[in-house]
Amino acid sequence: TPDKLGPVPGDILVHAEGEKTGQPVSVAELERNPVRAYPQGKDKSGKAFLRQGDQQTNLVGISKFPETELGTATNKQAAPQGIVAYSLVCQHLGCQVNWRNADQTLLCPCHSGDYDMRNGAKVLGGPPPRPLAQLPLRVDGDNLVVAATFLTPPYGVAEGDFEQYKQ
Ligand code: FES
Repeated sequence: TPDKLGPVPGDILVHAEGEKTGQPVSVAELERNPVRAYPQGKDKSGKAFLRQGDQQTNLVGISKFPETELGTATNKQAAPQGIVAYSLVCQHLGCQVNWRNADQTLLCPCHSGDYDMRNGAKVLGGPPPRPLAQLPLRVDGDNLVVAATFLTPPYGVAEGDFEQYKQ
């Protein structure tokens, strides 16, 4: 079902938790510490639904950095105004990663997988075999919209299943 598949262009990003759960993420509220969000799609009748993905693989963290801080591994076309979004599900065994302000990384609580949030979510340490998947965004007024499907497979999606997952 579409809620289990990957985000598609035109989905908006909504808060995944907290007081603002279900509300659109606004550009103005973004900072380094990532906002946790889900893509929200619309079904054929125009009704909104959360596209959480299988095992919540579509949970993304959205951060805004000064553009000059973003490293070359970041797909900058996918990061308008220095705004980046990555799947928060660790590529090792699927735990959810947490923001670590001290070194601006996403750290996995399970086996210390460490990802560089400012540089393509590259693996800095630990067992993860590949970077976290980046989700391309575009800015629409004060809201964030999915500009394209995940650039690489998020956790739990095999290379061979990626095309189907992307829809
Ligand atoms: Fe994240 Fe093992 S699940 S490092």
